[in-house]
Amino acid sequence: MTPGLAVVLVRDDPASQVYVRSKGKQTVEVGMNSYEHKLPAHTTEAKLLALINQLNTDSAVHGILVQLPLPEHLDEAVVINAIDSAKDVDGFHISNAGLLATGQQAMLPCTPFGCLMMLREHYGSLSGLNAVVIGRSNIVGKPMAQLLLKDSCTVTVVHSRTRNIPEIVSGADIVVAALGQPLFVKGEWIKPGATVIDVGINRIEQGDGITRLVGDVDYEAAKKIAGAITPVPGGVGPMTIACLLANTVTACCRAHSLPESSFLSA
Ligand code: GUN
Repeated sequence: MTPGLAVVLVRDDPASQVYVRSKGKQTVEVGMNSYEHKLPAHTTEAKLLALINQLNTDSAVHGILVQLPLPEHLDEAVVINAIDSAKDVDGFHISNAGLLATGQQAMLPCTPFGCLMMLREHYGSLSGLNAVVIGRSNIVGKPMAQLLLKDSCTVTVVHSRTRNIPEIVSGADIVVAALGQPLFVKGEWIKPGATVIDVGINRIEQGDGITRLVGDVDYEAAKKIAGAITPVPGGVGPMTIACLLANTVTACCRAHSLPESSFLSA
């Protein structure tokens, strides 16, 4: 039995193409089947839903990932909720989001799942730690907060309208930055010894026409104060893909009533 992952890309945005290619390559590298579906940016919702339906019923496909963001004319919620929740390896389906929010076993969104794995590896138990999540997206901020809460952290979610972000961050043992603002978190905000996970990935102009990738945290300043910190690039990305592959293996085991590895879920 070989687990199979289908990745659907609608649009020809270069960054998304790089992500999708990397996911496909690593899926094959670990010995699983990868099915890539590239659709033009003007694809109708009916056409996309027909493809999802076909993948839902394909027994060789155990996981389905629709790369976000979708073109404006497509309704992300309608598309994501059309995926069979058992094959929703991104954990974005409303059933999986609801299961996580109520503390039940769910398919977990890959980036927060990867962050949680790293934090557990670092701390052992997260119980009682103060965690601040910066950003409230459905992809990272909200599920990250739910997962930290489930591991008994005291969780604060801050966002663009929060008034005293530096003060709140300075009380955190764990900071997860996922707001998509380059170098937003300053070194002096960090509590000495805190753990900082930077989920941001932003391309900025250096001034000489050259661009570079930076995170949401001022890494150079923060690394002098933090006890542990993830860089950008080269930080959480590999963990996200590892968790995507883990979710695909879990979905395959469930589809065939095989025993699951607890190592692959939270
Ligand atoms: N776009 C940015 N991050 C993600 C992700 O984790 N999954 C999908 N499907 N699209 C994304």
